[in-house]
Amino acid sequence: MAKKNTPSVSPSHFLGVVVFSLCFFVPKSVLGVKKELRFRKNGGFKILQVADMHYADGKTTSCLNVFPNQMPTCSDLNTTAFVERMIQAEKPDFIVFTGDNIFGFDATDAAKSLSAAFQPAIASNIPWAAILGNHDQESTLSREGVMKHIVGLKNTLSQVNPAEVHIIDGFGNYNLEIGGVKGSRFENKSALNLYFLDSGDYSTVPAIPGYGWIKPSQQLWFQRTSAKLRRAYMRQPEAQKGPAPGLVYFHIPLPEFASFDSSNFTGVRQEGISSASVNSGFFTTMVEAGDVKGVFTGHDHLNDFCGELTGIQLCYAGGFGYHAYGKAGWSRRARVVMASLEKTEQGGWGAVKSIKTWKRLDDEHLTTVDGQVLWSKSHAAVRRKKQVGSPE
Ligand SMILES: *[C@@H]1O[C@H](CO)[C@@H](O)[C@H](O)[C@H]1NC(C)=O
Ligand SMILES: *[C@@H]1O[C@H](CO)[C@@H](O)[C@H](O)[C@H]1NC(C)=O
Ligand SMILES: *[C@@H]1O[C@H](CO)[C@@H](O)[C@H](O)[C@H]1NC(C)=O
Repeated sequence: MAKKNTPSVSPSHFLGVVVFSLCFFVPKSVLGVKKELRFRKNGGFKILQVADMHYADGKTTSCLNVFPNQMPTCSDLNTTAFVERMIQAEKPDFIVFTGDNIFGFDATDAAKSLSAAFQPAIASNIPWAAILGNHDQESTLSREGVMKHIVGLKNTLSQVNPAEVHIIDGFGNYNLEIGGVKGSRFENKSALNLYFLDSGDYSTVPAIPGYGWIKPSQQLWFQRTSAKLRRAYMRQPEAQKGPAPGLVYFHIPLPEFASFDSSNFTGVRQEGISSASVNSGFFTTMVEAGDVKGVFTGHDHLNDFCGELTGIQLCYAGGFGYHAYGKAGWSRRARVVMASLEKTEQGGWGAVKSIKTWKRLDDEHLTTVDGQVLWSKSHAAVRRKKQVGSPE
């Protein structure tokens, strides 16, 4: 066998190593996840998205953009209270924190701030996941350090990076599968797929100013994962005709978020779209993959709209945290996504039938606003028929 320090590696030896590591790191599927996510017995699965908490030091950290009379009693603890109230009101099956979880510049101890920021999710016993924004690494931990701290917290399904990939840009790229209802014909299928990506912080390319973007290595991982999930979904038993719907979560919006105006989005746009100054092509990659129905970001706290482009809904959650810039009189908010399965003729549960979304405001009654259908199977089928039927 090859000696240690052998300078050249034969192709067959190299292949052996690759095959070995692929076998060793077979990505876990629905059956193997440490705490599996599944649709409920009533055929629903609900996701709460919390964007931009900007948590710092807790009760000593003041609020931004609240009315002057609210300042003396406002701190990070208001952000905590809002997470707790949202969990109480919506009872989600899963919570996702889409970055700028902490505002690093004002966090004395990153680990402490992270633990405090996620505490309501941890205490709820609801599985949760987080990804990074552009401010999470500005305190005492690097981006890798932040992600490593997060994956060590209780009840989280976050991962630093996928085990089956050896080289990938960023920290916090992973996917999760939502299994069909236990005991149903879909119990071994992932009926809904969630993707999480690290959209970076700032460009490291001197000629390109501004924010980071999703790199080719991450897009390749996404493509492969999407293709693998599609194959599994279209395999026996219960072979399906197309892929299961996918939802993608990251922090910095894509340039395509600028494709809308108030005539074709739901929600508001009160500031510019702060995407990277270059287009990474990730939107095209997602359209090509064919399974993605919704993209959910944060970053621009004053935008909270969803608009559809080429069959993909591009959605902001709206700013959540009180130590994040916002607008006095315009409530902090959160986005909820609810996927529902179709009832089969035998009375069991099948594939995803529809995906709906709404937001809740942090006002007295946690008012629900902007309810809309993001995607529905029947609507998509009608549209496919029209496309096939028209020569243009
Ligand atoms: C922050 O929380 C305090 C204590 O519950 C409350 O009195 C205050 O109204 C909250 N401030 C805002 C802006 O919601
Ligand atoms: C799902 O997998 C389990 C374990 O392999 C098996 O017992 C069960 O019959 C499968 N369910 C369906 C609907 O195929
Ligand atoms: C939204 O409407 C505007 C015109 O009001 C149009 O320029 C734009 O292309 C539309 N966007 C999409 C994605 O349909």
